[in-house]
Formats: sequence, structure tokens, C-alpha cells
Amino acid sequence: METKEFNKTKRQLSVLGVGTWELSSDINENVKAIKYALDNGINFIDTAEMYNTENVVAQAIKDYDREKLFIASKVWPTHFGYDDVIKACEGSLEKLGTKYLDLYQLHWPNKAIDIKETMRAMEKLVSDGKIKSIGISNFSLSEMKDAQNAMSKYEIASNQVEYSIVTRDIEKSGLFDYCRENSIAIIAYSPLSHGKLFGNAKLMEDLLSIGKKYGKQPAQIALSWLLHRDNTFPIPKASNTEHMKEDIASADIKLNDEDISFLSGLEEKYYTEPISKGHKKKEDTINRYNFREEKTD
Ligand SMILES: NC(=O)c1ccc[n+]([C@@H]2O[C@H](COP(=O)([O-])OP(=O)(O)OC[C@H]3O[C@@H](n4cnc5c(N)ncnc54)[C@H](OP(=O)(O)O)[C@@H]3O)[C@@H](O)[C@H]2O)c1
Repeated sequence: METKEFNKTKRQLSVLGVGTWELSSDINENVKAIKYALDNGINFIDTAEMYNTENVVAQAIKDYDREKLFIASKVWPTHFGYDDVIKACEGSLEKLGTKYLDLYQLHWPNKAIDIKETMRAMEKLVSDGKIKSIGISNFSLSEMKDAQNAMSKYEIASNQVEYSIVTRDIEKSGLFDYCRENSIAIIAYSPLSHGKLFGNAKLMEDLLSIGKKYGKQPAQIALSWLLHRDNTFPIPKASNTEHMKEDIASADIKLNDEDISFLSGLEEKYYTEPISKGHKKKEDTINRYNFREEKTD
């Protein structure tokens, strides 16, 4: 698997990372799939306190050289108060069985808590060696600038946002270009449109028409299109080794210009709303997963 620099961190990351939200209930299979990824060139794993999968990641990584891995987790917005950020991070470290995170991300913006307070805690975590770099997720362009301005010592390394062949809102909002110009990596979540890609027969046909030329499946072509975008690290989720194997093999595809141009036209035909659009406001999403009390057992 090729690697590329994760911008400001100067770390070489596999061009494809591994997502871990809503893994199947078969933990052994999940662990096997993640280990398969690690054995086949992936060094970047994304999790979050909200996913309840940090324990799965811990099992998968325990026999690997920690220094070679890039482990990213996230703090949920209800924990954006100074003490809560520190506590949430320590909880993630314990669940992951690691002394530090390579990237710690604010999962969603939270207008109810002053971003300066949250960023002060994030900077403290870097200074204390508990995290190596600071990321954000689901932040708009202006929210991202506010988060950066709230920091005094460090810079934002990445913004994790929804981005796929059928959902390219970040290009229209200017976020994509701003991140590229300012060396803020884009971590593309739901790169298979949270599985919605597979429910669209016509889109599947179009992806297959390109896939046939390269001997690849539709999912692999959709991932490959993202891998051809600048500054972008897709993190598909695969609960089993078969899907993981396919996803990893998408990194071998070199699309020609004509096919890239065809694939770039698909969003217009099959635009798919971001998965978060179902919630009226970002606050709804936050409350929907106000999980600490319900989900920690
Ligand atoms: N920051 C955020 O707010 C946020 C939000 C959403 C997601 N994320 C991150 O992004 C990651 C990926 O996004 P996602 O989980 O929403 O969706 P996704 O990766 O776009 O799609 C996952 C779906 O595609 C299936 N799949 C994977 N590889 C496949 C293949 N080769 N062929 C056929 N089906 C395949 C998976 O099935 P199986 O599970 O059965 O393998 C699952 O149903 C998450 O796990 C999480 O780490 C972050």
C-alpha cells in the first residue's frame, strides 16, 4: 500500500485508513479484519469514544509495533468542557491500551461550550504527550477557522468530514480547497456513502462499467476515485475480511483521466445527501448520540 504524508504531522500514512463505526456484532471477525488490514499495509485506524469500538481496536493492535501505527480517536461534544476533554482522552487511552493517540479529534462542533476552553484542553493534551496532533470533524470552514484561532501553540492537522463520489458538499462549500491550501488533511468519512452506494442500481451499473476495465468491483472504483483526490484519506469501514480485502485492493487502481472525468460526473446524477442531513441541526446529532450514560455498559 502506498503511503503519503499526513501534512502537518509529517507522518507517512497508508493512503487508505480503516473506519470502525457500527462494526458488526462479531468482534472476532472485526479484529481479524483489522489485523488483515495491518498485515497488508494499512497503518491508520479511526475510532471514537462514541463508537464503543476502542476495545476492538485495542485487541487488533496489541501485537503490533505501536510506533508504526497511527491511531485516531474522537471526543464527543458533550465532553468539550476542559476537564471532560482530559477525562475523555484518558478513557480512550485506557480502552485502546495505548499511552498516546496520534490524532485526537473533536467529533462535532458544540456551540454551547466556548471553543477556546476546548482547544486549551486539546493543547494541554499535546503538551502532556497524551496526543500527538489535534483534529476536528464535521466542522464547517468558519468553525474550523474559529477552532484554529482558539489555539496558541499548535495547528489543526485534519478535518474529518463526509466525502464520497456521490456526496461532495465539502467541495462546494470551499472547505476542500481551503484545507488543501492550508495543509489540513481531509479524512473522508462514509466514503461508500455509509453503504447507500449499494442501494442505487443505476450507480452500481455505472461504477461496474468502469470496474470491468480494471477488473475491480464498484466499491473499489468509488474508493479509488477518492484516492485520486488531493489531500484526502478515505476511511471505509469493513466488518469482515472479505470487504476489507476488496477495500485495500482499491489502492492499486490507477484510473485514467477519461475515467476520472466520467466518475466525477456521477455526483450530479446521483447526489446523495450527507448522512447527517437527516438531523435538522448539528445539535440534534449531538443529542441523538448523547451516549455516555446509555452506552458505556
Ligand atoms: N466523524 C464522523 O462524524 C463520522 C461519521 C460517519 C463515519 N465516520 C467514520 O468513517 C468510517 C466509514 O464510514 P461509514 O462506516 O459511515 O460507511 P462506509 O465506509 O461509507 O460504508 C460502510 C458500509 O459499506 C460496506 N462495505 C465496506 N466495504 C465493502 C465492499 N468492499 N463491498 C461491499 N460493501 C462494503 C460495509 O459493510 P460491512 O460492515 O458488512 O463490511 C458497510 O455496510 C466510520 O466507520 C467511521 O470511522 C465518521
